[in-house]
Amino acid sequence: MRKEILDLLKTAGDTYISGEEIADKLGVTRTAVWKHIKELRRAGYDIVSQAHSGYALKGAPDVLTPEELAPLLEGSLFGTNILYHEETRSTNEDGKAAANAGAPDGTVVVTEFQGTGHGRLSRGWFCPKGEGVLFSVILRPTSFLPQEAPKCTLLAAVAVARAIRSLGLDVGIKWPNDILAGGKKLVGILTEMSAEMERIHYIVIGIGINVNIAADEFSPDIQDTATSLSILAGHTVDRRQLLAAILHEMETLYIAVQKDGFAPMFDAWRALSVTLGQDVSVLAPGETFEGRALDIDDTGALLVDTAAGRRRVLAGDVSIRPKGWKGKR
Ligand code: BTN
Repeated sequence: MRKEILDLLKTAGDTYISGEEIADKLGVTRTAVWKHIKELRRAGYDIVSQAHSGYALKGAPDVLTPEELAPLLEGSLFGTNILYHEETRSTNEDGKAAANAGAPDGTVVVTEFQGTGHGRLSRGWFCPKGEGVLFSVILRPTSFLPQEAPKCTLLAAVAVARAIRSLGLDVGIKWPNDILAGGKKLVGILTEMSAEMERIHYIVIGIGINVNIAADEFSPDIQDTATSLSILAGHTVDRRQLLAAILHEMETLYIAVQKDGFAPMFDAWRALSVTLGQDVSVLAPGETFEGRALDIDDTGALLVDTAAGRRRVLAGDVSIRPKGWKGKR
């Protein structure tokens, strides 16, 4: 009902709409309308009322609720089932629980705050409430095998980089899927999967974006290595529009890879990469080595030329070495 009332108020724009008209249109009493309006105001909607005229919506809160997102995602797969938690432990955990309970392909879990957000390599992911975009998408692809699932991480990175670049901000992808601006991290992506040998049950792609975070809000240990969109842009960024743009990009790529395979998406990844052609240090499971990042192969692995020959990196942390770097001192 809240959503229907909001839709009517949004459609009316600046024009007032009476409680009676809302009640008639929605088949409820005027008292019920009034109660919902009170609830919406409590949720942060600026709804003004005028005797004999009714109600008008003057402002919406900065929240990522289905009421706010769904209108921006009409007709798209990734707008069909949006699960919202004002606060949660981790949207990836929620995504896996929802997927195990049967949530369909394209389900999106979104929150304003995570108590125990996870990152790659068992790291945490923290973001102040309401200042980031934190979400997970459940995919149930039928056209590729579990071995190909890690490629979806690269797909997500391309989608996020494209959406951010459409805001006029210069960002690139560090292999495999960090989004950086000026060498500092803006976005992290964590992909998890449940599968049998030959069939994917589901993939959960979790994405955390530093959106409206001030520099001094980052914890001291990451202040030199992390940044946010508002720091880059010099103004607050609309989280709803950003999330909707990312979901549109992701859906387009998801449909395309199921139809045409991953090769065209890999080309898009290459064009956005800040890793290729750079001297890198690779922290791989059990060892560290240096070399020049050449390309990704058709599995998404990073190819690095080292003094001892070419290495194929499937997992690990890659740091890009500053120009002119001459090796460890
Ligand atoms: C990384 O760079 O290490 C990946 C960070 C991924 C964080 C996101 S926030 C939304 C989703 N839920 C989680 O618990 N993690 C991912």
